Amino acid sequence: MGLRIVPLSNSLGLGRSIADLLNAELTKVFTKTFPDGELYVRVEDDLSGDDVVVIQSLYPNQNTSIIELLLGIDAVRRCGASRVIAVVPYLAYSRQDRQFLKGEAVSSYVLLSTIKTLGTNYLLTIDAHSDRLKEYFGNGFTNILPMEIFSKYLIEKEGVKEGSEDAIIVAPDKGAEHRARALSEVLRINYVVIKKVRNRYTGEIKHEFPKEIDVKGKIAVVVDDIISTGGTVASIAKFLNSLGTEKVVVLASHGLFVGNAIEKLRRAGVSRVVIIKTVGRYPSSDLIEVIDPSALLARHLRNLTLAL
Ligand code: R5P
Repeated sequence: MGLRIVPLSNSLGLGRSIADLLNAELTKVFTKTFPDGELYVRVEDDLSGDDVVVIQSLYPNQNTSIIELLLGIDAVRRCGASRVIAVVPYLAYSRQDRQFLKGEAVSSYVLLSTIKTLGTNYLLTIDAHSDRLKEYFGNGFTNILPMEIFSKYLIEKEGVKEGSEDAIIVAPDKGAEHRARALSEVLRINYVVIKKVRNRYTGEIKHEFPKEIDVKGKIAVVVDDIISTGGTVASIAKFLNSLGTEKVVVLASHGLFVGNAIEKLRRAGVSRVVIIKTVGRYPSSDLIEVIDPSALLARHLRNLTLAL
């Protein structure tokens, strides 16, 4: 009985480095796409009695990556895995975590309950969109907030000092407050929450900015889970810069950078965007700093497997 790492297409590099860090055996997976677009997954090793870690980020190509993950979990089960741990650094479809409008499907429920039903015992993810996702998987769900990575970066690279009044943490909406609070507790720096209103039919968002907010001459640190089009963070950064901040640094776990997101952030005066390497590809840009989460994930996996 041992620990096996099974990396899928979007997380091959991450799988290799986690296997190295844990001194675990890497299992090769054969995948192919049929001419009509369907996927095929085969694991050739005998995994009898092993704890098997299947690693797959769900971006890019969310829909095919999800099928690959589901087939991968089924394959390792059929190869005799004793326990299956899914490591999904970026959980796609997580923002639809409830019904906002009558008649909507709840995509995160569909995804997580299916992963569970296939026989996944544990699921580790980084910065899940909300706490509801935990309920949809049930016992065995671990959500890792990467605040120690972010705080280390702020201290070492941006000159932020613990307990300083020269910096302020900003949550772009109520849903991001727990991130701002967690970072604020690590760094002992104040945080504010901006109010966001979303039109559920058009998708349009508007921020209601506070009348009084003391950011002049300060480093403003905006913390969110996902940068998709960059619109949310750009709007906040413009507001903060209009009040005379020293600089605006953005921390986001998942950098999708759809369309002209980077240009939008640059134009809004963002000085740096720090993200965790949770997805399978990044645009190259001097605005972005990508931090590897292998050691963080390996530590959580080690604790988890020791506790099993
Ligand atoms: C929304 O609730 C999320 O937490 C992010 O704020 C949002 O997904 C960011 O999207 P975009 O970059 O397109 O504004």
